[in-house]
Amino acid sequence: MSYKAFYVSTPIYYVNDAPHIGHAYTTTAGDVLTRWHRQRGENVWFLTGVDEHGTKVQRAADAGGVTPQEWVDRLVHDAWLPVLGTIDAANDDFVRTTEPRHVQRVQKFWETVKDNGYVYSAPYQGPYCVGCEEFKLPGDLVEGTGEFTGQLVCPVHGRPAEELQEDNWFFQLSALGQALIDHYEAHPEAVQPRSAYNEVMSFLRQGLVDISMSRSSVSWGIPLPWDPRQVVYVWFDALLNYVTAVGYGSDPGTPDSERYAHTWPCDVHLVGKDILRFHAVYWPAMLMAAGQPLPRKVFAHGWLLVGGEKMSKSKLTGIAPAQIIDHFGSDAFRYYFMRAIAFGQDGSFSWEDMSARYTAELANGLGNLASRATAMVNRYCAGLLPTPGEYTPAEQALIDMVADISPAADAAVEELDFATAIGHVRGFIEAVNGYVTDVEPWVLAKDPAHAERLHTVLYTICECLRAVAVLYNPVMPAAMQSMWEHIGGADLGPLGEQRIDTVATWGQLRPGSRITKGDALFPRLEDTDAG
Ligand code: MSP
Repeated sequence: MSYKAFYVSTPIYYVNDAPHIGHAYTTTAGDVLTRWHRQRGENVWFLTGVDEHGTKVQRAADAGGVTPQEWVDRLVHDAWLPVLGTIDAANDDFVRTTEPRHVQRVQKFWETVKDNGYVYSAPYQGPYCVGCEEFKLPGDLVEGTGEFTGQLVCPVHGRPAEELQEDNWFFQLSALGQALIDHYEAHPEAVQPRSAYNEVMSFLRQGLVDISMSRSSVSWGIPLPWDPRQVVYVWFDALLNYVTAVGYGSDPGTPDSERYAHTWPCDVHLVGKDILRFHAVYWPAMLMAAGQPLPRKVFAHGWLLVGGEKMSKSKLTGIAPAQIIDHFGSDAFRYYFMRAIAFGQDGSFSWEDMSARYTAELANGLGNLASRATAMVNRYCAGLLPTPGEYTPAEQALIDMVADISPAADAAVEELDFATAIGHVRGFIEAVNGYVTDVEPWVLAKDPAHAERLHTVLYTICECLRAVAVLYNPVMPAAMQSMWEHIGGADLGPLGEQRIDTVATWGQLRPGSRITKGDALFPRLEDTDAG
């Protein structure tokens, strides 16, 4: 096989607690990207999973009075796996860092790096933030406020780091700084957005210092093969999920090694901006040291904020995805976060904003258009899609518009600019709604002399909805599946197989197809405390 899969990853999430919408945000973006690329006809591999080792998880388990393994097993089954269903994620694999496939391959990877001369033993002394699971460098900490005034604190967690002193094994990161600079100068697209690229380059240009790759005072982790009293530092275990899950280190000729050859390197690592340095500096350095190809792109998105700060469970500001989805549905959740926040920038969630967009853009905008269209075909054409007659400039304008917005949306998704891509489709829906208002099909229906004109209009509206279903399917798969069935799309095959590059080809719906009314795509919100 000669194809290369388009490989998308999310970070693997710490299972010290249950997921909140900040975590679901990254997975949603990955899923939208995945479904879009599938509809480009590409072979896509979408990986997500959980990060189960480290001090943070160990302490959560201790506090819960169970072993770390019991703790992670319970949370993964009760919370992390179910949330994928809640947000409708179509991932191909789910990796857990306690799985034997991961553990064995991590050990193999570090053996290789050590054999290549990049690992040595030395004492470590310095600050460590357990929240970040990170050895902090001199410039990383900031002046504390409130109860921590006068102390240096972690800028993400707002609390002082712990002082560590332990004998560790070090990864010789300093030897790879110039190679990383050369790589990123040659591949500026490899870290996005531009602000993230600049941050990485300035960090690299300050010069890199070697970093501990093991922990001697932590037991919950993967033992070093050459020194089993120590475990692999949790980040240097977790980052490897991206290769272990697709078969790195498996025996030649096995299906896993085939998968590695056809999947790695990753095309897009989606990460929050707080973990950029791990992904754009340490991770490629590790890969270089092991002689493996580097990822093609790391994209750092912003944070969901509450009161101006990163939403987090530890600050008790975490909102569970189900709290929103129970009220609005998974499609509206996916739509809102991809549409309302520019990917790459921070954004705030508010119930008011979400309700307003839901009502204006989904219920009144698209939902209303679809229900009017299907109702009119039922009332005026006995539920069968009519054959269009001659098109006038009004229809031609819509036909031209699909041909414009489809490649524009595709180009926006290529840039991971989901909000702009959705904006193109939304603009089109507004144009179709405007067309319906202008041509007044209900007036045409009153006079049999206008029958052909009426048929042209109704066919045009349904064809426009076909294009919308195809373009919005990656964002709102459940609602678009339902719309696809209502407009007779099933005659054209499964919605997920409709291609983005041919969506603008006019006239795909077959006259005579059955058009059904069905339930509202986006039901009106009941008056509740959230609505
Ligand atoms: N376990 C590490 C990642 C290892 S990847 C090899 C980790 N886990 S995390 O659970 O703390 O965070 C995972 C992802 O969730 C990060 O990309 C982080 O940015 C994202 N988010 C956590 N809170 C968030 C918000 N409030 N807003 C947006 N994303 C957030 O880091």
